[in-house]
Formats: sequence, C-alpha cells, structure tokens
Amino acid sequence: MKIIAVNTPQGMAEAGYELVQQTVEENKHPVLGMATGSSPLGIYALMRKNKLDVRHAITVNLDEYVNLSSEDKNSYHYFMNKQLFHHLSFAQTFIPNGMAQSLEEECKRYDNVIENHPIDLQILGIGENGHIGFNEPGTSFASGTHIVKLTDSTRQANRRFFEKEEDVPTHAITMGIASIMKAKQIALLASGLKKAEAIKTLLEGPVTEECPATVLRNHPNVVIIADRQALSLCSEESFHEHQQVFSISDLLSNSRVD
Ligand code: F6R
Repeated sequence: MKIIAVNTPQGMAEAGYELVQQTVEENKHPVLGMATGSSPLGIYALMRKNKLDVRHAITVNLDEYVNLSSEDKNSYHYFMNKQLFHHLSFAQTFIPNGMAQSLEEECKRYDNVIENHPIDLQILGIGENGHIGFNEPGTSFASGTHIVKLTDSTRQANRRFFEKEEDVPTHAITMGIASIMKAKQIALLASGLKKAEAIKTLLEGPVTEECPATVLRNHPNVVIIADRQALSLCSEESFHEHQQVFSISDLLSNSRVD
C-alpha cells in the first residue's frame, strides 16, 4: 500500500481527482467504483468543475440503503444524482436497488454487474469501525453483494443526515469484500481524527475480518489518501513500510520518497 499524506481537504480532493482523471483518460471503457459519504465529495466537486469528459465511462456504486427510494434525499441514488449524474453524462451508471422486490435477486444481479464491468479504480471511504462499503466488522473476506444489518455505530455516524433516529435505515445492500478486492486499483480516503484509529488498524493491525479495511493489505494496488489527523496515530514505521509518496505523479512514476 502507498500513503499520500495531505494537509487539507482540497489536497485530498486533488489527489483523488488526479487518479480518477488518469483512469478516465487512459482507458477506452473506464469503470469507476464510486462511494458516497463525505470523503469523496471534493473529488466529485472537481469532476463537475473541470467538466471531466466521462461519456465513455461507467460507474458502479458500492452500496445503497434498503427501503429508500431514489427520490429520498438520504438515498445514495439521490446523492449520486445530485453530486454527479445530473451534471456529467456517463455512458452507464449502476447503483444497487434497495427497493427491489427480491433483495436476494438484486444481490445476484449486482454481482453480475460487477462481473461484467470490472472496476478500474474503486474509491473508498472508511468507517470509524473499519468498514468499507457497508461491510461491517465480522463480514467474510469472501463475500459478494449482500444485505447488511447496520451496526449501532454506523447508524449513529449517519444519524446527522436524518430527521429522527428511527428514520435511519437499519439495513443496506453492499458490494462484498471479495468484489471490492477485484478492482484493479483502490483509493481509500480518510480525513479527521475520527478516522485515526481505523487508519492505524488498517496500516498496522492484524489482517482480520474484525476490521474489514485490513483486507486491503492483501491487494497489490492501493493508495491511502489521508490527512495528518487521520494519520496521527500511525507510527513512523508504517510510513516506511507502506511507502509514503508525496503526490499522484510520484505514485505514477513509482518513485520512492521516504
Ligand atoms: C459509502 C460507504 C461507506 C463510507 C464510510 C465513510 O458509500 O460505502 O463505507 O465510505 O462510511 O463515510 P464518510 O466518507 O462520510 O466518512
């Protein structure tokens, strides 16, 4: 894994955007794995601002709440429309359908989507408990798309978006860990002290299903783009072990800077 330490939210957005831009420009039919939440907002803002040409690109989102329609302002579908799909014209976009009559069938359908559209670059945020997508602690590393019961910690973290506590969904449909690991490249974004513990475990803890993000240590092409606060609990050794790079161009030229 490589680490890019940034000083500002803008720095995180720019580094992430450069990777997206490179993926979109270098591939004939790029497939972008998209995340929702606060972490990728800056990247999406730059995609809009620069009017990135994505007419040949396909997006595959990580997850969606169960029982929220695309018109519900808290659904991830609504989020993606607002952030990107109403602004840029992609060749095709995929989001799991949390309103499907049979959620079991929907999981199968989505696994086929991922199979048929191998992801070139997967953007990830990380939960305070180390979740990726909605793969909560204890999720099998072998999992495909599945239905998840959200933990109290995740529901609490998302509470701020909903009027009442009981409005926060209890279940979600998420790409599985095995599906995420199939992406050719993964960029995980983290900012703020709240993420520091999860980032320390990701970089230094044992690789275990108890912290789903640690699976990324088994992936050959991961870059962690994180601010100083999110990296604040990490030891000097992890910067050496995981190879700190200072910019996306360093990353691309594969030069080692430590
Ligand atoms: C969102 C997702 C989640 C978030 C994570 C971090 O599609 O899959 O795993 O990436 O909860 O959320 P933020 O970025 O809001 O801190």
